[in-house]
Amino acid sequence: MQKFSYQNPVKLIFGKGQLEQLKNELAPYGKKLLLVYGGGSIKRNGLYDEVHSILRDLGVEVTELSGVEPNPRLSTVQKGIELGRKNEVDFILAVGGGSVLDCVKAIAVGLKYEGNVWDIISGAAQAKEAAPFGAVLTLAATGSEMNNNSVITNWDTKEKLGWSSPLSYPAFSILDPVYTFTVPKDQTVYGIVDMMSHIFEQYFHHVPNTPLQDRFCESLLKTVMETAPKLIEDLENYEYRETILYCGTIALNKSLGMGTQGEWSTHEIEHAVSAVYDIPHGGGLAILFPNWMKHVMDENIGRFKQFALRVFDVDPAGKTDKEIALAGIDALRAFWSSLGAPSRLADYGIGEENIELMAQKAMSKGKLGVFKKLTKEDIVQIYRASL
Ligand code: NZQ
Ligand code: ZN
Repeated sequence: MQKFSYQNPVKLIFGKGQLEQLKNELAPYGKKLLLVYGGGSIKRNGLYDEVHSILRDLGVEVTELSGVEPNPRLSTVQKGIELGRKNEVDFILAVGGGSVLDCVKAIAVGLKYEGNVWDIISGAAQAKEAAPFGAVLTLAATGSEMNNNSVITNWDTKEKLGWSSPLSYPAFSILDPVYTFTVPKDQTVYGIVDMMSHIFEQYFHHVPNTPLQDRFCESLLKTVMETAPKLIEDLENYEYRETILYCGTIALNKSLGMGTQGEWSTHEIEHAVSAVYDIPHGGGLAILFPNWMKHVMDENIGRFKQFALRVFDVDPAGKTDKEIALAGIDALRAFWSSLGAPSRLADYGIGEENIELMAQKAMSKGKLGVFKKLTKEDIVQIYRASL
């Protein structure tokens, strides 16, 4: 293991009927609130009215920012900052999926920053203060509800950048599986692919002696894989939604990465695709992850062999280590395809035209890859294998 320190200040409030806790959680925060949501799913499933009823009981003055895009945009963050300043809000409440929450994280630091919030997102400046914020989550995927990450797209420059700060944790996150019943099948699958990918980003490393971390990752993957096929056939099943929602949170509250080394290059490689083509994050990961795996597996074939044997129960009889590893990667591709996830960039109408540009964007931090250090040429090869 590597040495580590871990701190997570988020109060996680989970389960049926837990929305009523919103009243207690908001009570300490003053009377002016910015309510942020997406394109209308919360109006259609009744959550918007329920939240408003609680806010009315509290006597809170509400300003709204609606229309946060999937792959939230800098322009929307800036709109939120303007609204928040004009109305002198004391608290920001995100009601929606990871995009709404990520947007709120950027608004929270932007409200307390004199310059352009892009400085913070791009890493040119550090947040020194943030407005307090909390969340009611409606989609199992990103783990944003219990981490400090946020991913924002600057549509003018076609950059999609992740950032984080010790100040960008929600004060609380309320997760009631019932509000995820209405997530459509495709979006449910993207969420499942995303959470599995978060586990992979923390599982494939070279750090020795991580038996518990390995088993945490493997059991989480097994649980997601056991539940996912049942859930997509029965989208309003409480128990399946509950399991997947909990898995999504644990997959990226960063506890899996204690004592190991995070990878995250496939995330950078995917963010470059969604920055240019605005495709769903989980869809992009489904296409790219198995190809990253094949590209890097020779760096530590034992790790991929363990993955194949323990997660996909690959039969090792008569196979070399490399064949076992490859069978595991193929089994992952087959599993995602069985759920209906895309497997080629062509599924989104993406061809060779922007591969160089995307590879350049994926390398924007100057270096990429821990399991295997990647050059721009490596990234081009991963994109080509994904066409
Ligand atoms: O906008 P509305 O109308 O709410 O519809 C959304 C949106 O169209 C819909 N949806 C959400 N909850 C629903 C629902 N539809 C019906 N019923 C519900 N209960 O689903 C669509 C997608 O929502 P979005 O929030 O974009 O999805 P997700 O949670 O997957 O978030 C994706 C974003 O998070 C970033 C991604 O890059 C992407 O920008 N990520 C954030 C991370 C983090 N903060 O830790 C890590 C991830 O790796 C990821 O990069
Ligand atoms: Zn992700």
